[in-house]
Amino acid sequence: MRRIGQGRTAEIFEYTLNQIMKLYHADFPAEAVQNEFRITDAVFRKGLPVPQARLFKDDESRKGIIFERIEGNTMLSLMIQEPVLIKELSCQMAVCHHSLHAQNDEEGVLPAQKQILTGAIRNTSLLSEEEKIQIISYLSTLPDRKQICHGDFHPDNVMVNETRDQYWVIDWMTGMSGDPAGDVARSWVILMSATLPEDTAPAVHRGFEGVRNLLLDYYIRHYLQISGISRQEMDAWILPVAAARLNESLPGVEADQLIKLVHDRIRLLK
Ligand SMILES: Nc1ncnc2c1ncn2[C@@H]1O[C@H](COP(=O)(O)OP(=O)(O)O)[C@@H](O)[C@H]1O
Ligand SMILES: [Mg+2]
Repeated sequence: MRRIGQGRTAEIFEYTLNQIMKLYHADFPAEAVQNEFRITDAVFRKGLPVPQARLFKDDESRKGIIFERIEGNTMLSLMIQEPVLIKELSCQMAVCHHSLHAQNDEEGVLPAQKQILTGAIRNTSLLSEEEKIQIISYLSTLPDRKQICHGDFHPDNVMVNETRDQYWVIDWMTGMSGDPAGDVARSWVILMSATLPEDTAPAVHRGFEGVRNLLLDYYIRHYLQISGISRQEMDAWILPVAAARLNESLPGVEADQLIKLVHDRIRLLK
């Protein structure tokens, strides 16, 4: 099979003419793959713009999901190829994110945001027990909602067709139900701290940072404008979301930056 994409968790192969196979790394837990299948299926049934998950394959050592194939590019690759499109694509990303949040998970199919965040905060080795207790207690004061949240919404997980009038959201493993303000805060945290591998050329680093900062600015501003959510409402989620992200195996520089952010924000609680 011809490989057409690669992410942190899996490789993507052409499967048939209009289907792809997402083949997870060998050590990846089958339960997480099953979760991605289940969540993608649930949001697809709600009519959201996601590729249909067709089959879960767990008969081989590497688990896989066969998905409907999207004809297009990720927003990230388009932004890097054509920087003039950054503003348009960032605003489209905001519209897309908002359209997910307009739906809710009344049926309770998706895991709950506060539970996911609490679990990750408890599990990180980068915070003290006292810090964890403070953050979790603060988290319990934030709104309880049941809107559809993606949990990893960034421009490499949004695809767009060639004429840029249709988009799809992929990679639903971290889908959850919760407060949209928390889902946008998570995108903010990812976008403000994401780095390229350390051996990338300095010029590419600078180019990437330019894309990242412009995107962050346009996307957040447009999202807040169309959703009516205030910057304060989004900002309130940054502490628990950043703390929970420390539980992911991040590159050292990203972890250091987030630890500093978390420490600064804990100080503001007092
Ligand atoms: N349904 C699809 N159709 C076409 N390309 C896809 C599809 N799903 C994923 N891809 C490609 O594979 C890449 C990685 O997929 P993704 O699901 O985000 O994996 P990961 O969990 O590893 O990030 C995407 O950035 C995209 O280029
Ligand atoms: Mg991805």
